[in-house]
Amino acid sequence: MAKILAIESSCDETAVAIVDDGKLLANVVATQIAVHEKFGGVMPEIASRLHSENITVCLQQALDESKVRLEDIDAIAVTRGPGLIGCLHVGLQAAKTLAMLYDKPLIPVHHLAGHIYANEYIGELKFPLLCVVVSGGNTELVYMKDHLDFEIIGSTTDDAVGECFDKVARVLGLPYPGGLPIDLHAKQGKHTYDLPHPNAGAGKYDFSYSGLKTAVINLVHNLKMRGEAVRVDDMARSFEDVAIGMVVDNSMRAAKDYKVRQIVLAGGVSANSYLREQMKEKVGGTGIELVVPPLWCTTDNAAMIAKVGEHLYKLNYFAPLSLGVDPNWKIDDQLTLLKN
Ligand code: KG4
Repeated sequence: MAKILAIESSCDETAVAIVDDGKLLANVVATQIAVHEKFGGVMPEIASRLHSENITVCLQQALDESKVRLEDIDAIAVTRGPGLIGCLHVGLQAAKTLAMLYDKPLIPVHHLAGHIYANEYIGELKFPLLCVVVSGGNTELVYMKDHLDFEIIGSTTDDAVGECFDKVARVLGLPYPGGLPIDLHAKQGKHTYDLPHPNAGAGKYDFSYSGLKTAVINLVHNLKMRGEAVRVDDMARSFEDVAIGMVVDNSMRAAKDYKVRQIVLAGGVSANSYLREQMKEKVGGTGIELVVPPLWCTTDNAAMIAKVGEHLYKLNYFAPLSLGVDPNWKIDDQLTLLKN
C-alpha cells in the first residue's frame, strides 16, 4: 500500500485528500455551490477561477490535517476527466507541478471511477457488479467483471438525470441544485400529473431525459397561462416517479441479465431517497447485494479519486508529465489510456 495525495476539480468542488494504506487521513472539499446558485447552474469560467484560488488552500489544509509531508507521498492522483475543461486544467496543473517538484509519479483517474470506488470506504466491491452512475453530468450503467474493468452497457441519449432534476426544479422556482428540493417536495406530494414515460434510444439499457424535462416545462407554462396553480409537491412526486423509475427499471433489468452479485449506486443523484428506497425494495429476494454510498461520498470529493489511485498505484499506472485533460474521457478508457 502507499500514501496517495489526490486532487479533484472537475466541476464546482475543489478537493484534496490524502490516504495512507487505505486509511483516509484528510478529505478537504471547498464547494462553490453558493456562488453558482444565483446563476441556476455552474458557470464554467467562474468555476475555473475559483479552483485556482482554492487549490493551494485545500492542499495546505490536507497536509496540515494529515500531518503528512509532501516528500513522504508516494504518488499524486488526479481527475483527468470528464468535466469542465478549465476546471480540470487547474487540478491537473497542480498535480503535475507537485509531481515534478517532488519527483512523484502522476496517476490519471476517471471521475466516475472515483464515484464507483468511493463505495470501498464502506465495504468490499464484489464482482461481477453493476454500477448505477447517476449525477449532474452522467447517467450510465457500468458493468464491471473485475477491478478497473469498466464496460458501459447503458447511458443517456440526451440529458443526464441530475441535469433534468436541476432544470425541473428551476421551472418550479426551487433552488439550485434542484435534486434535494425536488426529493423533499416529492415526499409531500401525490402522483397526479400525467407525464410521458420516455422511450430511450437504441440500446437496451439506455435512458432519455430531455422529453420528460420538456413535458414538465410545457405543463408548468400551460398551467400558468390558464391561471391555474402549479401544485409543486405533486409535480415533484409525478416527475420523480418517472425519472427515478427509469433508473430503477433499467438497473434491475441489466443486473438480472448480467447476473451480477452487487449493484453499486454512485454520483450525486444516488443521494435521492426514493431511488435508495426503490432499489432496496427491488433487490429484495433476488440475492443481489445493494451497495449504497454514504451521503458524504455522493458529492464530488478527492477521497474517491485517492481510492482509484491506490488500485492504479499497485499496477504502476503512471502518466508522463505531458498528459493533458480530457473533458469527454470515457470510463472504459481508464486502463487503456497509457497502453496505446
Ligand atoms: O455527482 P454530482 O455532485 O456532480 C456531478 O454532476 O458531477 O451530482 C450533482 C447532481 C445535481 O444535479 C443534483 O441536483 C443531484 O446530483 N442531486 C440529487 C439529490 N441530491 C443531489 N438528485 C436527486 N435527489 C437528490 N436527493
